[in-house]
Amino acid sequence: MIMPAPTIATDIFRQVLSHVPTPVTVVAGHGTTGPVGMTVGSFFSISLEPAMIGFCVGHNSSSWPLIEQTGGFCVSVLGADQAALCQRFATKAANRFDDVSWTPAPSGAPRLTGSLVWIDCRVSMTRAAGDHDIVVGEVEDLGVEDENAAPLVFHRGGFPRLVVEGGG
Ligand SMILES: Cc1cc2nc3c(=O)[nH]c(=O)nc-3n(C[C@H](O)[C@H](O)[C@H](O)COP(=O)(O)O)c2cc1C
Repeated sequence: MIMPAPTIATDIFRQVLSHVPTPVTVVAGHGTTGPVGMTVGSFFSISLEPAMIGFCVGHNSSSWPLIEQTGGFCVSVLGADQAALCQRFATKAANRFDDVSWTPAPSGAPRLTGSLVWIDCRVSMTRAAGDHDIVVGEVEDLGVEDENAAPLVFHRGGFPRLVVEGGG
């Protein structure tokens, strides 16, 4: 007999998962009304051939529908000194890009200046999973901006400092 999955209280789920460190990225696209972007910690790599990455986006996201309709997006992986950008792009503010330095990736999607890594993608597939969509992107171009800088890491609601040997 298949047992129904137990219901897990959301505060317990959040509390336990807050112990799992995540990278911090900004997923951005260039919509008809200008640049749009949001903080995303659920970034993961998927496939080597073809090169694919993924992340999860909440169904209440206002940015993702605008980004998705452009067909592409650029993931900027933030460095340890970019916590302010993480916080800014985790708001609902319409002016998130004000005073933020960026250049267009080959797709035209914004690539945030000073991030560690940028990954320019075409939307390959999305699949609903609970209250989020899993987004799969086929990588069209990518690069490392700073070989030695330390990454920004999100853990238990904060940004612990990592020591990267030989740099950071
Ligand atoms: C460290 C961090 C990681 C986050 N990761 C995600 C994520 O993976 N997916 C998501 O949908 N929202 C994530 N968020 C929340 C969004 O950034 C936030 O809800 C934002 O306001 C969404 O903006 P939008 O409504 O314009 O899309 C994260 C926030 C923080 C601070």
